[in-house]
Amino acid sequence: MSLPERNTALRYHEFGEPAKTLRLETQDLPPLKGGEALLEVVAAPINPADLGRIGGTYGELARPPATAGLEGLAKIVALGGESQGLQVGQHVFVPSHIGSWQSYAIAPCDELYPAPEKLSTRQAAMGWVNPPTAWKLLHDFTQLQAGDIVAQNAATSAVGKLVIQIARHLGIKTINLVRSLDSAKRLEELGADIVLLDDRNAAKAALEATGGTKAKLAFNSVGGSSAYGLCKLLANGSPLVTFGGMDRAPAPFPTRYLIFNDIQLRGLWVSAWYRKAPREEILALHNRVFSFMEKAKIEVEIAALYPLEDFQEALAHAQLPGKTGKVLFTREDSGA
Ligand SMILES: NC(=O)c1ccc[n+]([C@@H]2O[C@H](COP(=O)([O-])OP(=O)(O)OC[C@H]3O[C@@H](n4cnc5c(N)ncnc54)[C@H](OP(=O)(O)O)[C@@H]3O)[C@@H](O)[C@H]2O)c1
Repeated sequence: MSLPERNTALRYHEFGEPAKTLRLETQDLPPLKGGEALLEVVAAPINPADLGRIGGTYGELARPPATAGLEGLAKIVALGGESQGLQVGQHVFVPSHIGSWQSYAIAPCDELYPAPEKLSTRQAAMGWVNPPTAWKLLHDFTQLQAGDIVAQNAATSAVGKLVIQIARHLGIKTINLVRSLDSAKRLEELGADIVLLDDRNAAKAALEATGGTKAKLAFNSVGGSSAYGLCKLLANGSPLVTFGGMDRAPAPFPTRYLIFNDIQLRGLWVSAWYRKAPREEILALHNRVFSFMEKAKIEVEIAALYPLEDFQEALAHAQLPGKTGKVLFTREDSGA
């Protein structure tokens, strides 16, 4: 089989608004060196973090010129030298720093992690970031038991819908705050117990719905006044975990919730965990999360698929308020 010689990639040469900054570029692929793998990217989602990375606002930046895309699924098409336990044809995650919004990529073999064979290729393409994040939110901050309540804002997000589905299978109830109640029926179908408009009355309405029982844990990916609302929902001493800032406004935390209720303000950044965790720990968490998703039939919803060439439409779709799921880049001939 002849190997591809050219690669098409969505690249940026300076930080800025993705629609203005990204360019579709074609480059020669360099020859494969020992210890490297040539990857054919099968599918890659557009996540909020991708936009922040291109915009220069994310916690970890690639120095431009760089290829965009923090996660994706790829097939190994060739190996340089020893296989290091990898096989041609195997599906792996694209390492974040290499960029997944491209047709081919060359990656060091020791940075490759196997993608879950039991999930579909599209689901696996979204497996690196959001499923481990949702899992860690529910497991790393407090010991939850069946019947406990967790609360979250931006419940329509991919992470939010994963939290709803995982919590439901663990017997944990969810209070879900959303920007529009148009999403309520879908969230309830996924297993949401309470869905409320994320406004000034949300905390009061939520406590009425639970009969006054407060949440043991809350997740904030919005910021601003929404985070304040979550404070009001938390039982004394419980963690409020911030892991995103979709409305870009600072989150005010009135001192009274820290003093009288001892709310624990915490943060999660899954990228930092990936950087620090030993390989065995990452493989073990992947195995646990992906097996759980497979058995419980948990999926990340998909709104649309686009080829790299249609990146302007894809970017616009990914940023539409009320979009129904993730937007992915795929190639028509990739089988994804
Ligand atoms: N810290 C970490 O390790 C980590 C890992 C994964 C994700 N995240 C963060 O988690 C968040 C969700 O990621 P995702 O991939 O699940 O997102 P997603 O599927 O693209 O969904 C985006 C969500 O943000 C909401 N939203 C957008 N703009 C908003 C605004 N101005 N005010 C309030 N809500 C707004 C959307 O609400 P509508 O449905 O109403 O449009 C939707 O619920 C992001 O902030 C992401 O960066 C962090």
